[in-house]
Amino acid sequence: MDFIKYYTEKTAKSAELFKQSTTLMPGGVSHNIRYYAPHPVFMNRGEGSKIFDVDGNEYIDLWMGHYAHILGHNPNIIKKINHKNIEDATHLGTVNPFEIDLAKKITKNIPSIESLKFCTSGTEAAMYALRLARGYTQKPIVIKMAGGWHGAGSELSKAIKYPYVNGVTGVFKNISDGTDYIFFNDIENSYKVLKQYKDSIACIILEPVIGEGGFLPAEKNFLEFLREETHKMNSLLIFDEVITGFRLSLGGAQGVYGITPDLTTMGKIIGGGFNIGLVGGKREIMELSSPKYKGEDKVLIGGGTFSATPYTMRAGTEIINFLENNPDIYTELREKGDYVRGSIRKFIKDNSIKAIVTGTESLYMVSFPFDSDTQINSPSDIGGKTDIYKREHEFKVRLLNNGIHVMHGGGAISFAHTKDDLDLIIAKTSKVLMEMN
Ligand SMILES: Cc1ncc(COP(=O)(O)O)c(C=O)c1O
Repeated sequence: MDFIKYYTEKTAKSAELFKQSTTLMPGGVSHNIRYYAPHPVFMNRGEGSKIFDVDGNEYIDLWMGHYAHILGHNPNIIKKINHKNIEDATHLGTVNPFEIDLAKKITKNIPSIESLKFCTSGTEAAMYALRLARGYTQKPIVIKMAGGWHGAGSELSKAIKYPYVNGVTGVFKNISDGTDYIFFNDIENSYKVLKQYKDSIACIILEPVIGEGGFLPAEKNFLEFLREETHKMNSLLIFDEVITGFRLSLGGAQGVYGITPDLTTMGKIIGGGFNIGLVGGKREIMELSSPKYKGEDKVLIGGGTFSATPYTMRAGTEIINFLENNPDIYTELREKGDYVRGSIRKFIKDNSIKAIVTGTESLYMVSFPFDSDTQINSPSDIGGKTDIYKREHEFKVRLLNNGIHVMHGGGAISFAHTKDDLDLIIAKTSKVLMEMN
């Protein structure tokens, strides 16, 4: 049977709900990444490595709440926290002791963070980080990576899906003119671009392992180069650790690389499954955002009705506590990632399939290059040289038919994924790759 027909029959209730949601939300979704044709699957429950849809189908989940759930869906430690929250209060809108607990965990583990502010999303955190960089350096220009995603904020909307380099519609041109991009892991190109701006760069922002771009890790000498150049230019280096924070190690990617940025943004895992963002870094820079600061370079960090709300603070603290008490989890996650990547790569090679597996640690992505000799060395190669629309979509839907839920052809392996789950992921991925060959 045609794979779309099979999918439509298997997910009939989702199709029905999608009809309703399209009348209520543009494209039927609140986050565009959740849309795919003919309709997305409507999920209503998650437990451990699994996610369940409204038709009663079960899937091994690799999206894991946008990579937020390092322990899997709805772990017992978070269920307990939820009970406490219901007993006490949901949201207080005041300072509370729980934010101190989480802030202590973050400052203890993340090398660059001496001081921090919580907000409610990674998008917001990036916005505040740029504001701090401009306030502190008194310079205008922001440099990002081609293919880098830091949320949907206007200033960083340029070159998200390289080779499409324009910012998104609706952004005032002066705002997008304040941002330029360089190529990940390309020192020569980066050097040229940085030179053009002479003394006007406020900051360089990047993910040390670039999520949207195939989970490619930065080469250490590229990060060292950026660290050195930002020092020389009196600009700030910002690491976006929204994905990598507490995923690569307790110290995030900066702990692994041994390179300390001036500012760091975080989100996802540190909210324990609830909405969170954070910007932190050197005390001297962060102090510009203090309500007590009187200088003209004072930076506003202060939107966010739900910033540092107790349920998120408690849940985040609980997750980090668990990770601290189980440090072997990082070795285990790496081994699981190596196993899945290695097995799928071997299948691709043995069967001469036109697909590439990228990623590191617990993160992986399968991409479909247009040409057999394509190499993926940079996130700009994903947007430019692989079929991120038709083939990626077909791969996703076919995997859903086989009980596997991926995003961008892969995802994040969690502590909850068992060896049986991994074997099923490998077997079903191989089957689908063969069907598509
Ligand atoms: C690296 C990175 N930075 C920032 C963001 C934005 O975070 P949020 O979706 O919480 O706004 C994301 C979200 O996927 C991300 O992957």
